[in-house]
Amino acid sequence: MSGTGRFITLEGIDGSGKSTQARCLADRLRSEGFDVVLTREPGGSPGAEEIRALVLEGDPDRWSAETEILLFTAARRDHLERTIRPALEAGKVVICDRFVDSTRMYQGLSRGDLRAQVDELHELMIGIEANLTLLFDMEPGLGHARAKARKTAEERFEDFGAGLQARMRQGFLDLAHEFPDRFRVLDAGRDIETVARDVAKVVLEHLQ
Ligand code: ADP
Ligand code: TYD
Repeated sequence: MSGTGRFITLEGIDGSGKSTQARCLADRLRSEGFDVVLTREPGGSPGAEEIRALVLEGDPDRWSAETEILLFTAARRDHLERTIRPALEAGKVVICDRFVDSTRMYQGLSRGDLRAQVDELHELMIGIEANLTLLFDMEPGLGHARAKARKTAEERFEDFGAGLQARMRQGFLDLAHEFPDRFRVLDAGRDIETVARDVAKVVLEHLQ
């Protein structure tokens, strides 16, 4: 891990409340005096935001899973160079809404088993993992309903349907078992304030 900062990622299925909780967490940490950078993937730097539009809009079969691994990793490399690494080197707390665990799940599991390719490319081109990963675990039907209610153009993955979301949920829980040192699993099916209190507790304990 580069620098003295801390790198915190939020993961989970679509609609599990990651973006909402990322904002609450950033506000809370700032109020406690931490220097915080709130960012997201795909995106988080101007070049990566351009790639975001390419991967998230259009037909579900627009790109193969292999091409998507390359596109998400290209976006991540730009995000790392321009946003994440400079912030960590400056000693900041980086809160990132999705990171490589999403690629391990969405590209690694959704259309065949490509997990090894995701891990190899990550090792080669990115080479860092989060210090702490919060997994927002929730019943997929609820997440899908919440995500659909937002009505944006970014629906390529949401259009894969409820079956995929169910496999993603289990896949994320399996990842949490694989990396128990950095993962914390939270019940995301509760109200926003209750989840936010849990998130703040876990993160403040980690930062102290
Ligand atoms: P994600 O980033 O994981 O896709 P969002 O934070 O965008 O999820 O939340 C999806 C939708 O659900 C938003 O409209 C948000 O306001 C709403 N939402 C988020 N958390 C909760 C919650 N705990 N209870 C009810 N609705 C929520
Ligand atoms: P996001 O904006 O976090 O969507 P949501 O708020 O619905 O959770 O991410 C957009 C989509 O991109 C989401 O469906 C998951 C997908 N995605 C991948 O397939 N691979 C990746 O590496 C990342 C970061 C996201």
